[in-house]
Amino acid sequence: MPFPKDFLWGASSAAYQVEGAYLEDGKKESIWDHFSHEPGRIVHGETGDIACDHYHRWREDVALMKKIGLKSYRFSISWARVLPDGIGRVNEKGLQFYSDLVDALLEAGIEPMVTLYHWDLPQALYEQGGWKNPDSPKWFEAYARVVARRLSDRVKRWITFNEPQMFIGLGLQIGAMAPFEQNDEDTVLRISRHFYLAHGRAVSALRQEGKQPLMIGMAPTGDVPLPRSNSPEDVEAARKASFAVLPGAYTLGNSWWADPIFLGRFSSEAEALFGNRLPRFTREEWDMIAQPLDFYGFNVYQGAVSYPAPQDGYQEDAYQGSPKTTLDWNVTPEVMYYAPKFFYERYGKPIMITENGMAGMDWVSLDGHVHDMQRIDFLHRYLLSLGKAIEDGVPVLGYHHWSIMDNLEWSRGYDPRFGLIYVDYRTQKRTLKDSAAWYARVIQTNGENLYAHEHDE
Ligand code: NOJ
Repeated sequence: MPFPKDFLWGASSAAYQVEGAYLEDGKKESIWDHFSHEPGRIVHGETGDIACDHYHRWREDVALMKKIGLKSYRFSISWARVLPDGIGRVNEKGLQFYSDLVDALLEAGIEPMVTLYHWDLPQALYEQGGWKNPDSPKWFEAYARVVARRLSDRVKRWITFNEPQMFIGLGLQIGAMAPFEQNDEDTVLRISRHFYLAHGRAVSALRQEGKQPLMIGMAPTGDVPLPRSNSPEDVEAARKASFAVLPGAYTLGNSWWADPIFLGRFSSEAEALFGNRLPRFTREEWDMIAQPLDFYGFNVYQGAVSYPAPQDGYQEDAYQGSPKTTLDWNVTPEVMYYAPKFFYERYGKPIMITENGMAGMDWVSLDGHVHDMQRIDFLHRYLLSLGKAIEDGVPVLGYHHWSIMDNLEWSRGYDPRFGLIYVDYRTQKRTLKDSAAWYARVIQTNGENLYAHEHDE
């Protein structure tokens, strides 16, 4: 069996997508609270004001996680809940919420994994320029310190940032996510500079404040184009494309964010594209940015199309009638083999799958159950690919399904359902989907049942 004994079978969520209670117990607005209230930002005018009401229902949610048998739960901290103005005054009630959650998880035998930043910048900091402000790395460091002081006695695994590709690429360059800005290239380069420094400062803060040796990583996403065949040439071409720095799309790629952090330098492609416009750092700054991390986290969903987009009307991995999720994302299990392999080979760190899953058209059937057969098959195929990567020598520490429960899919609202747990937003009733029961079996057998179908044939 490829999955190691202590493999972290988990699931993920993020504060804004599940918590609700958006102005409760001293919390102030984040940019997502703020912008979701502007007309036209989220479909149907939906917001995260209530979401899954996880802020009040976390005990029930932890009980369901225990029922599934999760070994790890990845969640994010709402910065504006802990520091309502982003800096300065600490909101004890906000911290207490996370501290109680951590206790309940540990009691249920579930390892907490904390993401510090899953896109919900405090609005107060946004009003001071947000990530454009040269002080932003210091703000983030101070926030990391507060959280680490309070939780690091019990939380061992930490993630600084979730998907810079999305909150910077889509949020601050393309304008499709909060704060919906389109900035020019010089500004994006400046924001990138602040990002690297913020990450480095937060890692230092976590290591200094950690009450035990911590395992720290990041959770990027990024395009991984799949090889056309498994010939060495095609695999090399896919690898090269996976680390490309593309004019106009570099913020959506992998190496723009990961090379400075994991290799301590920009790639030659980035050098060629930007020359002396690249962010410059002192030796000390480089050392801080690139200080060793413990794993390479990755959010993986679908194989990417290679650029330029093909002319036949289909992306490379698609064909007439090919399988897709309700968000129109291609079902391409091979990406769960190639992504861990490519990242391990380039960065040399164990891989942590921090997200993977699919949006389905789930509803409660007449019999009261949610029969999400497609999610089961999706999960089965992707996990077999992950097993194959492990068999080929890639060290993989864990797999976190996105998501533990249906939640707010950002600008797409509540229609795409990603959860193992179904949420009826009118009543907040939770129902474990069939996939939850199936995943429970995977966890129980440490992946052995994934291979049972092979014996049926
Ligand atoms: C990436 C993000 O981290 C998460 O917030 C989002 O809901 C899922 N992927 C699905 O799009």
